[in-house]
Amino acid sequence: MVTSIRSEKILAVAPMMDWTDRHCRYFLRLISNHAWLYTEMVTTGAILFGDQERFLRFNEAEHPVALQLGGSDPDALAKAAAAGERFGYDEININIGCPSDRVRHGRFGACLMAEPDLVAAGITAMRSRINCPVTVKTRIGIDNQDDYAFLRDFVGKIEEAGCRHVVVHARKAILSGLSPKENREIPPLNYPRVHRLKQEFPGMTVVLNGGLKTASQIVAEIDYVDGVMIGREAYQNPSALIDMDEALFGVHGERSTRHQIVRRFLDYVETERQRNVPLKSMTKHILGLFNGLPGARAWRRHLSEHAVHNDAGPEVIEAALSHVPELGPAAAA
Ligand SMILES: Cc1cc2nc3c(=O)[nH]c(=O)nc-3n(C[C@H](O)[C@H](O)[C@H](O)COP(=O)(O)O)c2cc1C
Repeated sequence: MVTSIRSEKILAVAPMMDWTDRHCRYFLRLISNHAWLYTEMVTTGAILFGDQERFLRFNEAEHPVALQLGGSDPDALAKAAAAGERFGYDEININIGCPSDRVRHGRFGACLMAEPDLVAAGITAMRSRINCPVTVKTRIGIDNQDDYAFLRDFVGKIEEAGCRHVVVHARKAILSGLSPKENREIPPLNYPRVHRLKQEFPGMTVVLNGGLKTASQIVAEIDYVDGVMIGREAYQNPSALIDMDEALFGVHGERSTRHQIVRRFLDYVETERQRNVPLKSMTKHILGLFNGLPGARAWRRHLSEHAVHNDAGPEVIEAALSHVPELGPAAAA
């Protein structure tokens, strides 16, 4: 176990569509005290013309929590950011990293790396409307625009517009020919490029994202950047966050066991069921909690088979828990 304390550093859980909804974030907050939690990307259109309550509401326990926006029109970004701030988000982030066709045709996501002036105008418009930080999540490049100078010029532009915090997924995006999933696996990771960015922009908070899975990996990277953002590992193996949290912020009191974490989640599930939220929309986020431990498969199977019924409630989670032997503190696996 790593016990060093680097409390000025940032640990964040990445925005992930269909994954980091409010139920997932509530659950992850039970695991990590310090991690910044990001919403799924929400388009400016959904906020301005859709059901704001549905897209923006969250639980107070989630703080610190950042809203990620997808969009490019400065006025729409500013209005959506203002709505986000009204709902109480601690940070508004713009997605300049998503490579999907749908997003590209909407002229937002990673393709905006090629339009730094438009991104800067968006940041300026947002900053004139809100007080909380405006941040950017981006890639190290797109297609053949993948040298360091391209990234440096992009970050220079957003810094000029007043953005002081950039999250960099350390691989480029290939905008045609690769699916979003392939775009998270095929272009190679390049951490040194993100380290260099931090050196050249000392006033910018630079957060490294992509391929980080263990506390020791984070400890190896953290001296070069201001923070780390964890995506898939935080979702698929959420208890990894316990080690990561401790590696960056030190040990405070006794660790919870995974069983205790689940029991705390039950109160939340009970409340949400009373509001008619289907059980499966909460249990899908907790399937990976016991990964690698005895009973993990029975846990997953019980939840998958029984949480789908319309009248299923917290008792399904309690029954699933009885399939898993109660071990010591959560990261002992
Ligand atoms: C299911 C899924 C959905 C994602 N959705 C978003 C998104 O809405 N916005 C975004 O900026 N990145 C999104 N990403 C990318 C992640 O935020 C992150 O940059 C990427 O997974 C690399 O980090 P990792 O290697 O730690 O997973 C998504 C990733 C996954 C796996």
